[in-house]
Amino acid sequence: MNIRPRRNRKNAAIRDMVQESRLGIENLIFPVFLKDGNNVKEEIPSLPNIYRWSIDLLLKEIESCMELGIRTYDIFPAVEDHLKDQSATMSYDPENFYLKAIRKIKETFPDLVLMSDVALDPYSSDGHDGLVRDGKIVNDETLPILAKMSIAQAQAGIDIIGPSDMMDGRVGVIRSALDDAGYTDTSIMSYTAKYASAFYGPFRDALNSAPKSGDKKTYQMNPSNKAEALIEAQLDIEEGADMVMVKPALCYLDVIHLLKENFATPVTAYNVSGEYAMVHAAAEKGWIDYDAAMNEMLLSIKRAGADGILTYFAKDFAQSIAE
Ligand code: PBG
Repeated sequence: MNIRPRRNRKNAAIRDMVQESRLGIENLIFPVFLKDGNNVKEEIPSLPNIYRWSIDLLLKEIESCMELGIRTYDIFPAVEDHLKDQSATMSYDPENFYLKAIRKIKETFPDLVLMSDVALDPYSSDGHDGLVRDGKIVNDETLPILAKMSIAQAQAGIDIIGPSDMMDGRVGVIRSALDDAGYTDTSIMSYTAKYASAFYGPFRDALNSAPKSGDKKTYQMNPSNKAEALIEAQLDIEEGADMVMVKPALCYLDVIHLLKENFATPVTAYNVSGEYAMVHAAAEKGWIDYDAAMNEMLLSIKRAGADGILTYFAKDFAQSIAE
C-alpha cells in the first residue's frame, strides 16, 4: 500500500492540521424565548435547560452568554392566549412586550446582533403562520401583516428579520416595505427551505403555538423534495434575502449542501427544537455522550455547508470551548 489514509489520523496534531471543517462560536445563533412580566424563568419540559424569560432576567442571561462569546440571538415571543386573534394584530403593536424587549436588548448591548421571527403563529388564535379563511391559509392577504410586523421590528432596532412563514412572495414584500420606511440596512435571513417537519414539537410547546386545526403542509415544504429548495432559494435571493436558511438541519444536510453549491448567498441552518431534545433525552438515559453528540451534530451541519447555525446548543457549545 503506498497510500494509507490512517497516516493523516495518527495523532491529534496531524488530525487537527488536516481538519476540513471547523466550527466556532461566531457561527452560532442562540434562539431565546421571551415572556411578558418580571422575574420569570419558566422551564419548558420538552426543551431541557431552555427557558421562557421575562426581559429583566433575559438581559442577565444574554450578558452571561455574551461573556462566553455568543454574539447573535434570535428572539421568540410566548404570547398569552387571550391576546391572540385571527389576524395577529398584536404582532405590530409598538407597545407589545416583544418589541419593547427588542428595544431594551439593543440599548443594553448595542454590539449584539438580534434576529426576529416574522410569522403570524405566536400571535394567531389559529396557530398558523398565515391568515386562515374558510379553513385555508391565504397567501396574499397575509403579506401586508408580515410587512407591518417587519417594519415594527425594524423600528424597534432589530438587525435581522427572519421570515419563517413560507408564504410566497414575502421576502420581496418585506424588503420593499423596509426600504420604503427607510430601513435599508435591516437584513433579511429568510427561512427558505422550511420543511413540514415532526421536529418542531418542543418549540410549539415553548410558545404554545401549535396549529388549532390541520397542519402546515400547504405552506411548509414536503420532506421528500430537494429540487424545490432550489426554486425557493432562487426566489428568495431575487426578492432580496441576505441569507437563506434550511430548516430543520439534520434530516436536510443534503439540502444545505445543495444550496451552498448553487448560490453565493450565505446559507444558514436551523438545528431545531426536536433535534436538541432528542440528544437530551438519549443522554439522560445514558445512551449517548451529550457533549460528543452535540459537537458531532453541529460539525456535520457546518460540513454540509452552513455558514451560520441556529441552535439551542449554543450556550453548551460555548461553555465546552471555554472549559
Ligand atoms: C414559526 C416557527 C417554528 C419554528 C421557528 N419558527 C415552528 C413552526 O413552523 O411550526 C421552529 C423552531 C424549532 O423547532 O426549534 N413560524
